[in-house]
Amino acid sequence: MILIKLGGSIITNKEKPLSPRKKTIENISKNLRKVDEPIIIVHGGGSYGHYWSVKYNMHTKEKKYNLKGVAIVKNSMIELNKIILDSLIKNKINPYCLPPTDFMSGNKTITKKIKEIKKIAKSGLIPVTYGDALWFGQNKTYILSGDKIMTHLAKILKPRLCIFALNEDGLYSDLKSKKLIYELQGEHPSISENKMDVTGGMARKVEEASKIAKMGMNVFFVNGNKPKRIMKAIKNRTFEGTLFRGKRNA
Ligand code: IPE
Repeated sequence: MILIKLGGSIITNKEKPLSPRKKTIENISKNLRKVDEPIIIVHGGGSYGHYWSVKYNMHTKEKKYNLKGVAIVKNSMIELNKIILDSLIKNKINPYCLPPTDFMSGNKTITKKIKEIKKIAKSGLIPVTYGDALWFGQNKTYILSGDKIMTHLAKILKPRLCIFALNEDGLYSDLKSKKLIYELQGEHPSISENKMDVTGGMARKVEEASKIAKMGMNVFFVNGNKPKRIMKAIKNRTFEGTLFRGKRNA
């Protein structure tokens, strides 16, 4: 089984509010159709959920955020999710939409529900979930990122591998020269913030990827604009991107 996160910067144009990158989504869908093992898709918020969460000053910390902000973030994620689902269906993939409220209670995972996701994936349906604004309790809410969902799912489901499809070739050791880091073995690289990513998305991805690798699974960062690279990562072919080697494989 494979977990794949479609980053907000790949499925939307982060520079422009509410702008899906439909061609890119379409290309990814077309390629995913060729995968012949169970997959679970998680997607980010990009110029939908992220855009609104920034506007309403909402973060991953549990707090009493603006209620209109909560409603609008959730609404915008449904809109983006629908675009992804439509593209998958158009490409003859059968998505099974799972808002994160289906397997989260507050900031805790519901193990039984997450185990069910594996069964759904094994049946041939493709579970699709996404980062969202979630109820925490005591009138507080928080932003659950798609990256964090990857860690939650990986911890319980132990997939063969996790892929983060990004709008970059992978992780660079130097942002200016874009020198790619091919492999990391357990170390946690310190990276400079990518200015384009409104909430410092890259740092968070690295954090979650490192956690997953520490749990023993391989994690790949690949350029989602080149879905062939996603396919190569899946088929263990010569790989272009960054590999966080899982501890047991190191
Ligand atoms: C989006 O999830 C969460 C919201 C702001 C609703 P992510 O944080 O995983 O999104 P991207 O991939 O970084 O855009």
